[in-house]
Amino acid sequence: MRDINQFTITDAVKESFKTEEGSRFKFLLETLIDHLHDYTREVNLTHEEWMGVLMFLYDCGKISTPERHEFILLSDVLGFSALVDMINTRGGATEGSNLGPFYLDDAPRFDLGGDLGKGRGGAVLLVQGQVRDSLGNPIANAVIDTWQADSAGTYPIQEQASGQDKYDLRGIFTTNENGEYWYTTVLPKPYTVPYDGPVGKLLRAGNRHAWRASHLHYIVRAKGYRAITTEMFFDNTDYLDNDAVFGVRRSLITKLEPVKKTDTLPPTEIAPNARCRFDFVLAPE
Ligand SMILES: [Fe+2]
Repeated sequence: MRDINQFTITDAVKESFKTEEGSRFKFLLETLIDHLHDYTREVNLTHEEWMGVLMFLYDCGKISTPERHEFILLSDVLGFSALVDMINTRGGATEGSNLGPFYLDDAPRFDLGGDLGKGRGGAVLLVQGQVRDSLGNPIANAVIDTWQADSAGTYPIQEQASGQDKYDLRGIFTTNENGEYWYTTVLPKPYTVPYDGPVGKLLRAGNRHAWRASHLHYIVRAKGYRAITTEMFFDNTDYLDNDAVFGVRRSLITKLEPVKKTDTLPPTEIAPNARCRFDFVLAPE
């Protein structure tokens, strides 16, 4: 190994790890080393640039807390999270999209027609749809876990210091025998991802904004099917074509419509003045 040089070092590093032959770990590690070394040779990385990368990662770690996930944000703005979502979307199923940093796994349960908005300001939105399998059969008892920002673009979990309940604007619904779900909530507004840290610096260095198109988050689960994590977006709203975390897909955009007197609506706790429809398709496990 003492005759090592910039071309033989890649194999030397890979061989230094005694990983299990044929294992997924070996494959992931060796491919990562290949690509990192190739990148470094290709760009002729200087010491200053390398130290800049390390300090950037250090700053990401330093600002991170249980409520502030700077590395997830970095993954999001580099399109890495979206790429993993795309790769893991199964044919025929609803496309996956960002989980984001605000999911809680113990949201309150609501009956169909319940209201997540709790009298917050903004339009009262009726969201309705069906959960189906890839052959079009309705899936009864599918569990729809949803969370969202309010009409000012803020997640209640971000405002706990000012007395907000972190469980506001999130809830779990179960589909009926026809696979249908419906509920009311407030129409969310676009918001910026946190840009007061190192990732914000990166965005500014690249002349990028931090805005996300307004969306509702979902995890949909049903027995025997692969769960999906995705987002629903509204047509005719801002940032659909330049979402800061590349979460928008054409198939995830729904039409936002005003409620008309002649509309036949499912029974809800409070009357909506806007409506949208979104169906989820699950692929078998
Ligand atoms: Fe979000």
